[in-house]
Amino acid sequence: MSANIKIGVLASGGGTNLQSLIDNCEAGNIDGAIAVVISDVPQAGCLERARDHGIDAVHVPVAKTGTPQWEQDNGRIIEVLQAHGVDLVAMAGYMRKITPRLVQTFPGAAINIHPALLPSFPGTHGQRDANDYGVKLAGVTVHFADEEFDSGPIIIQGAVPVLSGDTEDSLRDRILKVEHKVYPQAVQWFAQGRLTISGRRVLLDGEPVAGSQELVWPPMEMV
Ligand code: GRF
Repeated sequence: MSANIKIGVLASGGGTNLQSLIDNCEAGNIDGAIAVVISDVPQAGCLERARDHGIDAVHVPVAKTGTPQWEQDNGRIIEVLQAHGVDLVAMAGYMRKITPRLVQTFPGAAINIHPALLPSFPGTHGQRDANDYGVKLAGVTVHFADEEFDSGPIIIQGAVPVLSGDTEDSLRDRILKVEHKVYPQAVQWFAQGRLTISGRRVLLDGEPVAGSQELVWPPMEMV
């Protein structure tokens, strides 16, 4: 991949992940720029954030998943992405399922961020489900998109402890801070052409990435 990729962002909400991508592009930490932001929600904060930074902001209404209209609406999304010459599609809080055609149109070039340590807790309530389950470590996953929901080869994960007394909201806030760090890193690795997919594994510079330290929570008392 050449330097300075064009990124198309799909988002449905306030867009703090979009903001972290914008900020890192503007700071030169990502070799690329956001060419367009597309949202299924007309008043979404992500569209406002895009406009504030002079980025094309496009509302594309999306019909119920699985319907012929949904296929057509996704076709419109593909058209907008292609019209902007997008190299990478980054879903950032996009709450709709994308069509297989969208994944096929951008092979190995569509990624998603999910606020849980996949494959645990897929779906729209990752933080709540993790908190309710009583896990000790929660976190975030950035992965290549495939034709399933919250699936696809994992690029990077970040873990945070779950504290006693955590609520869905407090856990969401702790995870979100890590989201804002790992998503720009994943995008930069993509922009640098350093990621390859090997089956379910994503290799960085052709090597499986080794973890740098153990993450244990609560802290161990025995050595
Ligand atoms: C994030 O937690 C993201 O992982 C999830 O939806 C949330 C979107 O937040 N899929 P924001 O719109 O980026 O602030």
